[in-house]
Amino acid sequence: MVVIVDPAGIPDERIAACLSTAEQEQAARFRFEKDARHWRACRTALRTILGRALGIDPAGLVLEFGEHGKPRLAPPHDGLHFNLSHCHDLALVALSRSGPLGIDLEPADRAGSLLGCESSFCHPQEIDALPAPADARAAALLDLWTSKEALLKALGTGMSLAPESVSLAGPGGHGSHPRLRGFTLRPLHHAALEKHVARLATPDGIAGIEVREFSA
Ligand SMILES: CC(C)(COP(=O)(O)OP(=O)(O)OC[C@H]1O[C@@H](n2cnc3c(N)ncnc32)[C@H](O)[C@@H]1OP(=O)(O)O)[C@@H](O)C(=O)NCCC(=O)NCCS
Repeated sequence: MVVIVDPAGIPDERIAACLSTAEQEQAARFRFEKDARHWRACRTALRTILGRALGIDPAGLVLEFGEHGKPRLAPPHDGLHFNLSHCHDLALVALSRSGPLGIDLEPADRAGSLLGCESSFCHPQEIDALPAPADARAAALLDLWTSKEALLKALGTGMSLAPESVSLAGPGGHGSHPRLRGFTLRPLHHAALEKHVARLATPDGIAGIEVREFSA
């Protein structure tokens, strides 16, 4: 399941009731209050969604972090996998009991900013396969960026595994990378995501993904 969250709609009282002292301290390190509020709201939505899935108080959930910072639930709740992505106006939370997930969300109007950045995140095979017209090329670059981020977040490395070392083009696609076998990559579609590009990486074999909006 994927839940679409409008962080601006999360009430302050819920944030105050949900976050740990460490999370409040982490938020206080943001330079701008609007960024701190956004982060607090996203973490509150994440805790609320996980708490509902587990039937427990969101404030009581214990989060742990992997080597590259990927959050996960501490035992005994570690069978529920999740991942979160946020941009300035929305967040997505993906949940599964089948294994690790990765999700990425980007504003669609970011595409043009990726023109000229090909070699910083694209494999040479991917660069060869890119269309030449600027609009189509920018859209293809955003697709690659979002897809790779979702895959590398599923793996847990994030961008500490060089994205240009992974090719989604050519025989086998991302499955040709030894660390990325076993993940299925899919686009996410929903009316609330019309101005965004979103990709989800799940363990192979999951049939359908329900996409729903968060209700406070
Ligand atoms: C993971 C990463 C791609 C996220 O980039 P981003 O631009 O913040 O993108 P998103 O909004 O999609 O994702 C952020 C969320 O991903 C999750 N996340 C953090 N690290 C993660 C990782 N290694 N793998 C998967 N998910 C991760 C968190 O829930 C985070 O939310 P938070 O900021 O509220 O804690 C980027 O931070 C990265 O490459 N990190 C790994 C390398 C690194 O720098 N590690 C240093 C920390 S040990």
